[in-house]
Amino acid sequence: MMATLEGYAGITTKVNKTMLARLLVEHDHILKTLNLLEMQFVDLCRGGAPDFSLMRSILVYIQEYPEQVHHPLEDAIFSILLERVDEVELIKELMAEHTELEVETRRLRESLKLLESGIISKDEIKKQLSTFLIRQRQHMYIEEEKIHPLIENVLTQEDWSYVQSTVPLYKK
Ligand SMILES: [Fe+2]
Ligand SMILES: [Fe+2]
Repeated sequence: MMATLEGYAGITTKVNKTMLARLLVEHDHILKTLNLLEMQFVDLCRGGAPDFSLMRSILVYIQEYPEQVHHPLEDAIFSILLERVDEVELIKELMAEHTELEVETRRLRESLKLLESGIISKDEIKKQLSTFLIRQRQHMYIEEEKIHPLIENVLTQEDWSYVQSTVPLYKK
């Protein structure tokens, strides 16, 4: 359902629901993957053996989906918001977090290799996993709480078309 936003830029435009729906679907996919990783974390905490193959697959997925698909989409959307809303600091922080989270994913993959080779302990990987899960979820929570309402109120169907034309994986 499209709501009408009168007066923005002097013209009648539509509040963009498609963009929000897309972002929420992507968050759902990422959250399900994080839940799977958390099950591995819980197993490790209970003294279980790590399923290296599954954990590797999860981290490869995170590098290929949130990092290659979701973050570029958000960065394009957030760049438009930066020009139109007051929450500039928060938006810049979230954009910087995209890079930080990507670095953390790479670090976790490296640590997994080191654990497999017996170079680091299970305790070390547990600490990293715990921080990783918290930071990833917190990032999405803040986006949904603070940024999605801005997207709903400020961005238009025309902006969505523009974003789709600029983000490679979303080009129609
Ligand atoms: Fe994000
Ligand atoms: Fe996100």
